[in-house]
Amino acid sequence: MLAYIDLTQPEERIMNQTIKLLRGHRSIRKFTDQPVPQALVNELVATGQAASTSSFIQGCSVVQVNRPEDRAKLAVWSGNQRYVEEAPVFLVFCADMKRHQLVCDMQGTEMLSGYAEQFITATVDCGLFAQNLMAAAESTGLGGCYIGGIRNQIAKVAALLDLPDLVYPVFGMCLGYPDQDPILRPRLPLEVVLKQDRYDDSGDRAAIADYDQRVKAYYLERSGGKRSMTWSEQMSGMLMKEIRPHMLEFLKKRGFLLR
Ligand SMILES: Cc1cc2nc3c(=O)[nH]c(=O)nc-3n(C[C@H](O)[C@H](O)[C@H](O)COP(=O)(O)O)c2cc1C
Repeated sequence: MLAYIDLTQPEERIMNQTIKLLRGHRSIRKFTDQPVPQALVNELVATGQAASTSSFIQGCSVVQVNRPEDRAKLAVWSGNQRYVEEAPVFLVFCADMKRHQLVCDMQGTEMLSGYAEQFITATVDCGLFAQNLMAAAESTGLGGCYIGGIRNQIAKVAALLDLPDLVYPVFGMCLGYPDQDPILRPRLPLEVVLKQDRYDDSGDRAAIADYDQRVKAYYLERSGGKRSMTWSEQMSGMLMKEIRPHMLEFLKKRGFLLR
């Protein structure tokens, strides 16, 4: 039997510290000058490593980018995202099947690479690793923001970081002590994302219309009345444009998604 959580009841019963921390997440894009000790970064990365990993492949490598001139380039390539340059810590999470080639070589076998399945597992590993790391960072008072913008110029990023074939940069992450306290960005209603037994979206239109109004109110509050947009407007506007059409060719060149 599933123990469903009755959302009409106060949720305090299940609000332990971990859940409170996760539910309090919001991206941080402005940081104080307070440095983040390298020992803490190391611990956070080790905590990322503790995440589940598909078939134990451990398909994520992290490049910590420290040099100001490299940060400046990454900030521009990401679409002029200043915080990429300014954040005390910037990490690039890379899906990595290269070391598997190495171990196969060490075992005297030949790795069959290029499978879409390997791309999925290494990419998922990066997501799990990074989110473990993000949650751990937030538990220590740090804040952060993922940076998918590095994929705008993915070939330049890969060249800058000397990434070999079978390694690709999935996203970056800014970390530092928050110098802002943004309000939470409302998520979709639970009934839209949690389906029971079958995928039934018959209630989604009405639920999303309602959610749209909450997102609109969020943007109005966050922007001091300057910006007003629903989630549907944001998504439809975004999804009518091409999105990084260079990705497939880049990934194929790097040995991913060949079969
Ligand atoms: C993989 C990934 C890539 C992202 N890339 C960017 C980015 O390039 N720039 C940015 O400002 N935010 C980026 N974000 C942050 C999202 O915009 C943010 O998580 C989302 O709007 C929800 O807001 P919240 O994190 O404050 O709850 C990214 C998030 C993820 C998960």
